[in-house]
Amino acid sequence: MDLTGKVAVVTGAGRGLGLAYVTALAAAGAAVVVNDVDEQAAAAAVKTVTEAGGRAVAEAGPVGTAEVADRLVARAVDEFGRLDVLVTNAGILRDRVLWKMSDEDFDDVIRVHLRGTFTCARAAAVRMREQGEGGTIVLVASPAGQRGNFGQTNYAAAKAGIAAMARTWSMELGRAGITVNAIVPVAATAMTETIPAFAPYIEAWKNGAPLPDWIRHDEGFGTPEDCAAVVPFLASEAARDVTGQCIGIGGDRLALWSHPQEVAADFAAGGWTPEAIAERWAQGAGREPQTVGIAPPKPPQDAEAAR
Ligand SMILES: NC(=O)c1ccc[n+]([C@@H]2O[C@H](COP(=O)([O-])OP(=O)(O)OC[C@H]3O[C@@H](n4cnc5c(N)ncnc54)[C@H](O)[C@@H]3O)[C@@H](O)[C@H]2O)c1
Repeated sequence: MDLTGKVAVVTGAGRGLGLAYVTALAAAGAAVVVNDVDEQAAAAAVKTVTEAGGRAVAEAGPVGTAEVADRLVARAVDEFGRLDVLVTNAGILRDRVLWKMSDEDFDDVIRVHLRGTFTCARAAAVRMREQGEGGTIVLVASPAGQRGNFGQTNYAAAKAGIAAMARTWSMELGRAGITVNAIVPVAATAMTETIPAFAPYIEAWKNGAPLPDWIRHDEGFGTPEDCAAVVPFLASEAARDVTGQCIGIGGDRLALWSHPQEVAADFAAGGWTPEAIAERWAQGAGREPQTVGIAPPKPPQDAEAAR
């Protein structure tokens, strides 16, 4: 996959998945602006890329404002002359059940994920439209946003909003040849290492052991590097017509998520009354209620033997 001559900005790329995206883009020949709120992490990521022969510069700052977004795009243009690829990866968690979630917990997550994605994509879209040569915008959604997740009011709302923005922007930017997709990654990072069913395996993986096959295959859960391949793919000519999609990736698994759509309908000539809905719901539109939540991991009975 040759991305020579292309220039990318990746947010939150000092560690975890963002670092894996940067590494994969640089390995394919793209020059990369590495953003992170953690200045040292961004600098270390740049060092890793340049030592491997790639081209990268660090531009630290907290995404969420127009000022930081404009700065990231300007840095790409000043340093490398253009912008072709944006990956809005930066993220935080502030998990609490609804009745304990503070305004601050809510606003912090919405600012980084939803506003960070919006402001960066807007700045990138302006630049890419000016260039007139298309472009690639990769947003980062989550199973929590697709399905809902206990304790993640703020995060699920932001990630569902991000998937909705991918659909909307794919329509708005299609004529300019700019693709917009949301990826739904699942990988062992600081964000996921506390999932109880995976924790012992992630601990072992950090000490050099491979992740078990059932985690990689059945759960679609692997390393950040496992998720990275989809980013150079989306930035390449091979994905020129791939837009408006939610693409799942993790471990050995690559998947396409459905978009919400009506799954059942019922009709009452002249309109519905509350009584008519009550009478018809269970056999009519509500006959197959949709499930919510992310299915919990199911280790094989003898997970050790299955390794
Ligand atoms: N790990 C998973 O399985 C998983 C699943 C679904 C979605 N995601 C999403 O993938 C993205 C990366 O997650 P990760 O698991 O690598 O997490 P991580 O915590 O390892 O990395 C997130 C990075 O974002 C940076 N960051 C935080 N706030 C920032 C801000 N305002 N501006 C710039 N940088 C900021 C952090 O410093 C950190 O380096 C996030 O958007 C996350 O929600 C991850």
